[in-house]
Amino acid sequence: MEINEKETLKRGEFLRSLGLSTSALMAFYCMGTLTACSSGDDDPQPGGNNNGGTGSTAGLTGKATGSSIDFTLDLTNSNYNKLKTEGQFVIAGDVIVALASGNKYVALSKRCTHEGTNVQYRLAQNDMYCSNHMSAFNLDGTVKQSPAASPLKVYKTELSQNGNSLRVYE
Ligand code: FES
Repeated sequence: MEINEKETLKRGEFLRSLGLSTSALMAFYCMGTLTACSSGDDDPQPGGNNNGGTGSTAGLTGKATGSSIDFTLDLTNSNYNKLKTEGQFVIAGDVIVALASGNKYVALSKRCTHEGTNVQYRLAQNDMYCSNHMSAFNLDGTVKQSPAASPLKVYKTELSQNGNSLRVYE
């Protein structure tokens, strides 16, 4: 701690000697200590998260990657409770799961068939969209907008009677 403070002071004195402004100094400090200057909003994909694997993530049980996908999401878990809101989506393993327009659950392969970027659900267009080169897919997986040329794989969904868990399977 003491060493860090001394280092920081030395760095500040050095930078000041170069005639840098306070904001420029802050930029340097942020580069060196990312956590101290974080905005607190680091989620690169609002509405999504990257849970995956086989039963190791809170709220997800089963197999969410590779072949023979069959998993269940706990919609009361904070990782997945957004799926009770129309228009929201999550990434679970290799799959994007959304509560689409009309409160209909859909699950498709998350990877755009053009170059593999994760797609996202768009409520207004009721489609899956890839921001990389602007491909779009209908919810039955078919291509709505190129450059993607082949469809996304579609998975079945099954909501539990109490509405608190959602099974996704092939
Ligand atoms: S990777 Fe999706 S459009 Fe190119």
